[in-house]
Amino acid sequence: MEVIIRPTREKATTLVARLLLDQIKAKPDSVLGLATGRTMEEVYEKVAAKNPDFSECSSFNLDEYVGLPGTDENSYRYYMNEHLFNKINIKLENTFLPNGVAEDLKLECEEYEREIGKRGGIDLQLLGIGRSGHIGFNEPLSALFSRTREKALTPVTIEQNSSLFDNPEEMPKQAITMGVGTILAAKRIILLATGKEKADIIAKAVEGPITSMISATALQLHQSCVIIVDEEAASELKEKGYYRWIFKNEPEWKKYQDF
Ligand code: GLP
Repeated sequence: MEVIIRPTREKATTLVARLLLDQIKAKPDSVLGLATGRTMEEVYEKVAAKNPDFSECSSFNLDEYVGLPGTDENSYRYYMNEHLFNKINIKLENTFLPNGVAEDLKLECEEYEREIGKRGGIDLQLLGIGRSGHIGFNEPLSALFSRTREKALTPVTIEQNSSLFDNPEEMPKQAITMGVGTILAAKRIILLATGKEKADIIAKAVEGPITSMISATALQLHQSCVIIVDEEAASELKEKGYYRWIFKNEPEWKKYQDF
């Protein structure tokens, strides 16, 4: 795991956008794992602004609310269309999200996993982090080997996300999410977190013990995972000096110093 601390949210989101664009340049038919949430909006805006070529890419989102069709403004399908897919040249038929209104949710989850496999697995997975420490909707006690499945949302998550609904009561209490194991199978992972309210959970995820109570801690097991944070989200990390040294000195990061 590597940690990159950028001075501001602006710089953190610009770096993530750059890394995503570099991925599709290096591999035009990349299979991308995409995330939703407020943090990602700025990343997608910056990606779309560069007029990128996504024509050969496919994408799989982490999660979707159970019970919301893609036409619902609060669904993650709607979010992705609005914030990214409608602004770039990706073929909509190559964009996948779990179907939250599938008749047989278990089968839907199995098919989602199969489709990822058929396309050769995820090359680059983007992640945000919830205040409960979830990645995707892998709430506390999610098995570290779990695969795509239905998951009940915790009160912390419901509190965090319900403010996005016109009527907070209408927020679904269940979601379909890629499992922790699905996420760990991606070839490369980038987690982005910004703002003071993420500082505590970032410190636990990066420097705390691995536990299924905080699914983001499982990222410590991954061979190629980068955590990108702004100063506020980094404020409770203990080894900041070391992380900064790595970013400054590792050849891999040389060309990204100014982003
Ligand atoms: C939702 C998503 C998560 C995401 C989180 C962060 O809960 N299921 O995948 O990481 O939002 O949200 P925000 O960026 O709004 O803090």
